[in-house]
Amino acid sequence: MNTITLNNGVTMPQLGFGVYQIPSDETAQAVYEAIKIGYRLIDTAAVYGNEKETGAGIKQAIEEGLVTREELFVTSKLFILQTPENKAAATIEHSLSVMGLDYLDLYLIHQPYGDIYGAWRALVAAQQAGKVRAIGISNFKAAKMIEFVGLNEVKPQVNQIEVNPWYQREADLVWHEQYGVQVEAWAPFAEGHHDLFTNPILAEIGSKYGKSVGQVVLRWLMQRGIVALAKSVHPERMAENIDIFDFELTASDMATIQSMDKKESAFFDHDAPEQVEWFMKRMWDTEK
Ligand SMILES: NC(=O)c1ccc[n+]([C@@H]2O[C@H](COP(=O)([O-])OP(=O)(O)OC[C@H]3O[C@@H](n4cnc5c(N)ncnc54)[C@H](OP(=O)(O)O)[C@@H]3O)[C@@H](O)[C@H]2O)c1
Repeated sequence: MNTITLNNGVTMPQLGFGVYQIPSDETAQAVYEAIKIGYRLIDTAAVYGNEKETGAGIKQAIEEGLVTREELFVTSKLFILQTPENKAAATIEHSLSVMGLDYLDLYLIHQPYGDIYGAWRALVAAQQAGKVRAIGISNFKAAKMIEFVGLNEVKPQVNQIEVNPWYQREADLVWHEQYGVQVEAWAPFAEGHHDLFTNPILAEIGSKYGKSVGQVVLRWLMQRGIVALAKSVHPERMAENIDIFDFELTASDMATIQSMDKKESAFFDHDAPEQVEWFMKRMWDTEK
């Protein structure tokens, strides 16, 4: 497994397993299977409603001797209503408690809304107390990331954002590199939007190496220096998605994929009024 060293010296696996949209009653088994197959980075969030079950899958894998806690890199995130400093501190404690962990490897502010500065103070304090090894942000566009770095003493180690062949974030990557903030890709497959898994261009590239579309996409992200999170509830797909370290895309393959960029989200624009309105409604669901 490739690793990436963050701006505070912590290393993280470059490929991980995400549990968004996995029903809570399937999450423990999925996480356990993913660890058994070789994933070491596991990504959940308070708002996914499956932190507890993610912790249960981790616990089972450790108890069966498949892995040690130190070999894993576990991420969670707080949502909008949890951003005020005191709530953020309590939410970190809650994540640790329900997951049954002494520390998290990465904790993120999930959305660029709410009291993100209060939340950041709580994350920095948790990091200083050894409760989280790395801290970061998610869904911050480059301009917001730059403002956030500029107004805080501790800069985020990671920004988790949508990156996939339809939304490649070329300019955003340059800004993040300049500011030393590691980009982590969510929805690397765009959840299959725009028929990604049957795309003939990606399939043809894959056929040269005996690899699937999903493998080409993840390999493309690895070669761009991006950390990627893939999700599947199927063990055979989990195994397929991690089997990407034995081939290399050529510069010509990379250029071909680059030409597929639609330069817009496969889902929604985080700044669109309708989207912010949706967040405002959804956030009440996360209040404990
Ligand atoms: N920070 C954020 O705001 C944010 C937002 C979204 C996601 N995330 C994180 O990023 C992770 C990944 O994103 P995502 O789950 O939204 O989308 P994704 O990984 O792009 O796509 C997942 C979808 O692809 C299918 N799939 C996976 N591997 C496949 C393969 N080899 N062949 C065919 N189909 C395959 C899965 O189906 P099956 O499960 O049926 O196999 C699932 O429907 C999440 O789980 C979460 O941890 C973060």
